[in-house]
Amino acid sequence: MLSYQHIYHAANFADIHKHKCLAKWLQNATQTGKICYLETHAGRGLYNLLAPEALKTGEAQEAKNELENINETHILKKIIQDIRRHYGEDFYPGSAFIAAALLGEQDEIHLCELHPKEYAALEENFLFSTKKPQVDIYKKDGFSEILKHLSKHKTNLLFIDPSYEIKSEYEQTANFINTLLQKDKNLQIMVWYPLLSNEIHHNLLDNIKHPFEKDEYIFGDKSKLRSLGSGLALIGNFKV
Ligand SMILES: C[S@@+](CC[C@H](N)C(=O)[O-])C[C@H]1O[C@@H](n2cnc3c(N)ncnc32)[C@H](O)[C@@H]1O
Repeated sequence: MLSYQHIYHAANFADIHKHKCLAKWLQNATQTGKICYLETHAGRGLYNLLAPEALKTGEAQEAKNELENINETHILKKIIQDIRRHYGEDFYPGSAFIAAALLGEQDEIHLCELHPKEYAALEENFLFSTKKPQVDIYKKDGFSEILKHLSKHKTNLLFIDPSYEIKSEYEQTANFINTLLQKDKNLQIMVWYPLLSNEIHHNLLDNIKHPFEKDEYIFGDKSKLRSLGSGLALIGNFKV
């Protein structure tokens, strides 16, 4: 069933919104002490925007101005500049590389990725990465694996970024969040969702049984994407 590959969508309008918020969230968290960053749906961490898959959809191309116009003072801008210096002008960081850029040796990173090709690419990308907080990668279902890696001594930050290939994933994600917060009420969670015209994201938001804040971005007529916008729900203390 796993057909989604993020390379088709990397650096599109939704990705840029998501990653700007993620980078700010992590930047704020790192001011407070040691971090354990966990991700259920990691992707491959690093994307070549000239790969045939990216060119096929043209989504990165459509959002090129959005990417270039990220404010110079925004932390994501600096991360992108560093990535371009290391890998080349056409490379773009996924969530896992954004986390690796912001966290230090005292922190840890746990990443789940189920797609065999994406998992292999993620492993390889970290093998050649120059920045090394402790990174562990699991070729496992993020919903069942990640719970095993919550730290007892560090602030746990969980990023949930499903592909929502199956409609039931919205409710499954809400149930997952509710279960996790029963086990660790201090867990900090960020979850991404698309804003579609059928408003199916309410199957996620309406089922989360904890207070949360939202950051939503409507693309307007800049974008021809099927989704109308990009949303993030945030549970816990850290802002974006
Ligand atoms: C939206 S992409 C992730 C993008 C990435 N978080 C980023 O921002 O750069 C979702 C990823 O989840 C993977 N995936 C789908 N179902 C999964 C599951 N149950 N457990 C772990 N990974 C899964 C897909 O293969 C895909 O690479």
